[in-house]
Amino acid sequence: MQLLNSSSGYGALTKLLHWLIAALFALQYASAIIMLRVPAEATTLGVTQAEYYNWHKSLGLLALLLTIARLVNRRSGALPPWAPTLTPLEQVMVHRAEQLLYAAMLVMPLSGLVYVMAGGYGVRLFGIFDLPNPIGSAPRLAVLAQWLHVASAILLLLPLGLHLGLVLGHHFGLKDRLISRMLPGRK
Ligand code: HEM
Ligand code: HEM
Repeated sequence: MQLLNSSSGYGALTKLLHWLIAALFALQYASAIIMLRVPAEATTLGVTQAEYYNWHKSLGLLALLLTIARLVNRRSGALPPWAPTLTPLEQVMVHRAEQLLYAAMLVMPLSGLVYVMAGGYGVRLFGIFDLPNPIGSAPRLAVLAQWLHVASAILLLLPLGLHLGLVLGHHFGLKDRLISRMLPGRK
């Protein structure tokens, strides 16, 4: 299997980064639901609320790094042609949904980072060391970034729903094996 995208299919790097980021997004939603609902003093599955926050922040920043790698990777090599079973209207929808997903992959972690830095909460990266705070205390900016983070977490569900609806609808409804375009070893 080739490393980069080519006219014969998505490359190994695209597939690896796609599934790593999809898994990280699932973890981000799960950790957010837990950390926002458990009391500060309680532990859930043996983990304290503060540790959930910290893992949420650290994994979100890892997702940001992988997104940057993904954007560089997408610009290297040629994009494969559309799946032949997509109608012209579906191609437009897939394209728009992917643009919004890329925007969310940047806006989500960046707004989270600005929120915790400007709010003075900071990030203890993977529980190992405290990231320097280049912003300093800026309460208004913190509120704006928090709002952006929460609003985009909700808005992101729209393109994600469209993405999954189209992919799963084609794969299981039309039985055109669309998901195999993003699986290892397939073209
Ligand atoms: C892939 C990236 C990320 C995703 C998908 C994500 C997702 C979410 C979601 C779904 C929520 C709950 C929103 C709500 O309904 O109130 C949330 C909250 C939060 N996130 Fe993230 N997040 C990401 C990255 C980050 C990063 C990098 C940080 C900080 C460095 C961060 C800090 C926070 C904080 C502090 C909250 C709590 C907000 C509040 O108290 O209202 N997130 N995030
Ligand atoms: C279980 C969840 C998911 C499934 C089954 C899935 C499936 C797929 C498939 C089959 C493709 C290839 C479409 C084609 O060109 O034929 C694709 C592409 C893509 N997916 Fe997903 N996806 C999932 C989750 C996600 C998530 C969570 C994101 C973003 C946060 C995402 C972002 C993208 C993007 C941007 C592309 C375009 C190719 C690229 O630039 O990497 N997907 N997905």
